[in-house]
Amino acid sequence: MRTQVGIIGAGPAGLMLARLLKLSGIDSIVIENRSREYCENRVRAGLIEQWARDLLIEVGVGARMQREGMYHEGIKLQFGDGKNGALHPISFKKLVGKGTTVYGQQEVVKDFNALLLKEGTPILFEVSDVSLEGVDNKHPKIKFKHEGQAQEIDCDLIAGCDGFHGICRPSLPQNLLKVFDREYPFGWLGILSESPPPDHELIYSYTERGFALYAMRSPNISRLYLQCAPDEDIANWPDDRIWEELTLRLAGTRKLERGKIVQKGVTPMRSFVAEPMQYGRLFLAGDSAHIVPPTGAKGMNLAFADVRKLARAMAAYYKSGNEEGLASYSDTVLSRVWKAQRFSWWMTQLLHRFPQETAFDHRRQLAELDYVATSEAAATTLAENYAGLPMD
Ligand code: APR
Ligand code: PHB
Repeated sequence: MRTQVGIIGAGPAGLMLARLLKLSGIDSIVIENRSREYCENRVRAGLIEQWARDLLIEVGVGARMQREGMYHEGIKLQFGDGKNGALHPISFKKLVGKGTTVYGQQEVVKDFNALLLKEGTPILFEVSDVSLEGVDNKHPKIKFKHEGQAQEIDCDLIAGCDGFHGICRPSLPQNLLKVFDREYPFGWLGILSESPPPDHELIYSYTERGFALYAMRSPNISRLYLQCAPDEDIANWPDDRIWEELTLRLAGTRKLERGKIVQKGVTPMRSFVAEPMQYGRLFLAGDSAHIVPPTGAKGMNLAFADVRKLARAMAAYYKSGNEEGLASYSDTVLSRVWKAQRFSWWMTQLLHRFPQETAFDHRRQLAELDYVATSEAAATTLAENYAGLPMD
């Protein structure tokens, strides 16, 4: 097989890249090691920044998101000791004139798969034994197995969009790679439930018992999270215990309706960046190069931001042979990546209880929450980052 750009991974990064390239008249082939069904049902976060919403619409995959996604003008912070605990609305709309859209990541993936396959961009699912060759010369190759056959794709450029556990990042010379990593001493226990969310906005709740997040997928489906141990055994959390804990961490500020729990799982929390995000003809994008803790819901947005820059650089290369954009790709995108890292870390340290924290830390956190809730300057900083830093 031969194509211009070989894309490894059919997550949000790989699919958006394939679409942007197609719109610039550049051919690509996407290979994915899981099945289409698996990718379309994998439950992940689903919060889309304002510019990313606009981009999805612009590239022709926004129609269902516009119909079914839930547009949010802000969030609510909840903190205090229960008696005085209160909800503090932060209006992004008022502060920065933007909003966010809740629309499950797997729905975005479904919309992209349908459009790309209809328009003839190949996505090969269930490939195995993927490896790269010649990324440091002008004729790189992707080798893999598909339907029992050994296959090769000859291409000009390779996009490593294969997530945190993929093969692309380990394919860079390890002596060139710098890794920045922070693990948090907690995780999130997440559920999807057939019940209405407690509020029309997302509630980020800081309590003595730990953090909780009250999000949603639709007016009748809640997506709810509890701070837990990073290695928490889900078997210790029968449904009743989850509901009791979620109710306690809502601290009486809203009524929590229970419903059938249709999915549950524990996610550890981590901040991670690998630099540089390119080597020769191989370009990393999305989770293959960086991951954020989910507190600011930046994962999918950062993946889109990377591939938007990458697609532009590739388009310039094919149009005029100009390699400048490709050469500066890593430096360009890392500046946004690090700002999103900072913000995700900041939201995480603001809202969670830390096992080793002192009484001083606890008071400082409460003061910071109060500052964000009462100072327009502080709330604007949160709003600007949460709804998405400007994107050119
Ligand atoms: N070959 C082919 N595909 C692979 C390989 C491989 N060796 N290894 C992993 N993959 C696939 C995964 O199965 C997955 O479908 O690459 C895809 C990577 O997708 P994501 O993990 O969704 O990463 P990305 O597209 O960068 O999107 C980032 O996804 O992890 C979430 O929450 C995170 O929102 C963020 C977003
Ligand atoms: C989600 O809807 O799953 C979600 C929303 C906001 C977050 C994290 C997850 O900060």
